[in-house]
Formats: sequence, C-alpha cells, structure tokens
Amino acid sequence: MALLRQPLRRLTCALALGLAGCGGGGTYEDDLATGLRWLEDEALRRQVLESALVDPDNGYARLRLERYRPERWGALDAWWPRVAPAVAGAGAPAAFEPAVGAPDVLDEATLTALGEAAFTRYPLQLEARLAAALAADPAACGFEVGPDGVVEGVVWVELPDGPQPGLTCAACHGGGPGLGRANPALDLAAALTGTCGVPSGWGPGRVDVTADGVENPTAIPDLRPVRMQAFLHRAGSLRNDRLVLAMRTETLILTSLGASVRPPPVVALGLSWWMWGLADGLPPTPEDGAEVFTARCGGCHDGPGGAGQLAPLSAGTDMAVLTSPERGTGRARVPALAGLGDRAPLFSGGAARDLDGWWADPDAVPGHPSPAALPEAERAALLRHLSLR
Ligand code: HEC
Ligand code: HEC
Repeated sequence: MALLRQPLRRLTCALALGLAGCGGGGTYEDDLATGLRWLEDEALRRQVLESALVDPDNGYARLRLERYRPERWGALDAWWPRVAPAVAGAGAPAAFEPAVGAPDVLDEATLTALGEAAFTRYPLQLEARLAAALAADPAACGFEVGPDGVVEGVVWVELPDGPQPGLTCAACHGGGPGLGRANPALDLAAALTGTCGVPSGWGPGRVDVTADGVENPTAIPDLRPVRMQAFLHRAGSLRNDRLVLAMRTETLILTSLGASVRPPPVVALGLSWWMWGLADGLPPTPEDGAEVFTARCGGCHDGPGGAGQLAPLSAGTDMAVLTSPERGTGRARVPALAGLGDRAPLFSGGAARDLDGWWADPDAVPGHPSPAALPEAERAALLRHLSLR
C-alpha cells in the first residue's frame, strides 16, 4: 500500500521510563496543523486508518475498512448531546446542558480543554439499565461518588423519548485522584443487572468491551501512559500515534452508540489531544534499578515508559482477550509500565490485583515472566524502579 506519508517521526527516546515528550513512534506528525487537517481531509483520514491496522482481517479492521468512508459513517449526523450530572439516590433531572460546545478557535489549549470536558461529559454508551443502580447505591458498584453525590463518569442524556443514563469515558478510566487511571472498583456488569454488591463474573476493574461473541472481560487499561504505547489494545490491534488515537476514539464512540449518530470529529480530536498529554503528569522513573530492569525486562519492555512492541502470545496471560476474533493480531502488546505503582488491575485479563499483589504471589500470573526466581537484591531494585505513583 502506497502511503502518502507524513514525515516519519524518528524520536530518539532514551530507554528510561516515564520520559516526557516521547511518542509511540507512529507514522504521522502529532502537531496541531496535522490534527486540524485530519478533521477535513478524507484521504488523510483513510490513510490513518489503513496505516494503523495490524491485522486487516480481524473484525475490528474489517468493520472499519468497510464503513469508515465519507458515504458510510461519514454521512451520519454529528451528535452534540445535552446532559446533566447523575446524582446517587436520585432519578432523572429536569434540566440539561450541552455536554460540550463547539470551540470558536482551535488552538492547543481549547482542543485539550474540549477533550477533558468530553472525557467526563460526552456519553459514548446509553444504558437505560443503569437507572436502578443510580437510584439505589452506585458506590456499591464501584462508581466514584463525590461528596455532592455526583456519580463520576455517568450522565443523564436528554433524548426524544425521555432521559436515559449514559456512560462517559471517566466511568471506566477515572479511578481515584485524577483522570485516566482505570477505576479498579467498577463492577459494571453488576450495575447493569442491578446486583451491586454481589461481585459479577467481570468485575471489579474488568469489562467485556468487544462484540466478538466471546466472554472476554478485559482489565481496564491505564490511559496516562497512552502516548508511550507503541500499539493500542491488549491484543495490539493498532499502531499508535496521535491521529490513530483520534480515529480510534471516533470509531469507539460511533460504534458504542450503535452507529446511529457519530461524535463530531473535533470532539474525537480533542479527546486524543488531551489523552496524549496525560503522561506529562506521571513522575519520572528513578534511575534506581534501571540496570536490572533493562537486563531482566528490557528484552520486551524496551521502549519509552517500558512500552514494547508485539510479543509472542506465549508472553501474554489471558488468551480469551488476546485472541479475540475482533481485536486479535496473533500477538500480545507489551504495555507501558510508567505509572505502574498506582495502576490496577494488571495484565490483559486482570490476573493481578496490582503491583504488590503480583509481587506477593508470583503464581498469580502464569504465562508472563515472573520476577519470583530473581535474586532478592534484584527484586528489590526492580520494585524501587517500578513503584511509581
Ligand atoms: C465500559 C468501560 C469503558 C468505557 C466507558 C471506556 N473505555 Fe476505554 N477501554 C476499556 C477497556 C476494557 C479497554 C481495553 C480494551 C482492549 O485492550 O482491547 C479500553 C481501552 C481503551 C484505550 C486503549 C488503551 C491501551 O492501552 O491500549 C483507549 C485509548 C481508551 N480505552 C479510551 C477511551 C475513551 C476516550 C473513552 C470515552 C470515549 C473510553 N475509553 C471509554 C473500557 C472502557
Ligand atoms: C517475553 C517478553 C516479556 C518480558 C521479558 C517481560 N514482559 Fe512484562 N509483559 C509482556 C507482555 C506481552 C505483557 C502483556 C501481557 C498480558 O497482559 O497478557 C506484559 C505485561 C506486563 C505487566 C502488566 C502491565 C499492565 O498494565 O497490565 C507488568 C507489570 C509487566 N509486564 C512487568 C514486567 C517486568 C517487571 C518484567 C521483568 C521482570 C517483565 N514484565 C518482563 C512481555 C514481557
């Protein structure tokens, strides 16, 4: 395939974890001018899709290759929903406001602000079944509930037939202080079936997000290091860069809404811009222990923030996730480790509760190399290197 390539980014990133400014090493420039061109230029949009797909034959790729065209998904109306916060113990509100507004100017600051607002306010999935959990005790399902009773990541959406609850990105990717981390407590399956407090087969911290007919709940990933990831998805379906992240976000929202409407492309671009900046908030990785890390883990975790390329499936841990007919590539993505110290759960199917849980029980994660057999001094050095919070 002849790609009309943007100048290739050849970033020279040191191997140190957590280095700011390093990208996933994608194809396209990640400057604002290229982003704004992506909004309008159909040929560029198509190239971004085609250049990103690792396995053009999986379900994810086939659907998008068929429909990501001006006359198909491009012909859908852009949706600017009106929403209201969801309050624990209450029903639908009476007044709504635009989830996000179309910006007048498009500079870095407005685009990023639009993305942050969309992350917590733009509904990507309507879920009437959530009404019962909201009216009862959403915290019992692991939703974060603020002191004012506002349920993080859930909004009421104004619709012609009456309001419905909708999930925003922050429902799953908004755990604890700051946004972008997984919410390790969220048991969405219990919330949807009105059985909060009774652990479901998915949760906590795991969601089956694919339409592949396979029961494969996936550990919600940490988005803070997303720009360091060379590939997106546990199964590595996409080569990552800032425009690919916009395309992935746009088609995620569109498919989650049942392809009846689509998000305004500028909202998807804003989300990508904002997510790309999240790594700036991660602390730099200490030099302490770096040598041991390189020797023991660097064979796979060899890129910025510890993100690597695609490893053989034998280094992966949850085959139902990694061999999804929708997302699978026949390989396992080697994830970034920056921010690992306060990330949970870990590994594709959430086999380890968190870093301490993995360290304490090396048998918890069969398949992935275990640090258990390493000399104690090396284990201690590794832990100091990785326990970033
Ligand atoms: C219902 C929970 C849920 C919601 C809501 C959700 N996500 Fe996710 N997200 C997941 C899960 C689970 C995965 C892992 C999927 C995989 O690896 O195949 C994921 C993966 C991702 C990834 C890839 C990260 C990586 O490391 O590969 C990005 C980026 C992302 N989500 C962004 C978003 C954005 C933006 C929104 C809102 C528009 C959103 N998500 C809404 C659960 C959710
Ligand atoms: C043979 C290649 C390989 C080596 C060596 C390797 N890893 Fe990994 N690592 C992977 C792959 C592939 C995954 C994704 C596996 C999955 O989730 O199923 C992964 C995932 C992880 C995760 C989970 C991160 C998350 O957010 O889910 C941690 C933690 C981790 N590795 C730490 C280490 C450490 C520490 C070392 C060295 C002691 C190491 N790895 C050595 C390939 C490797």
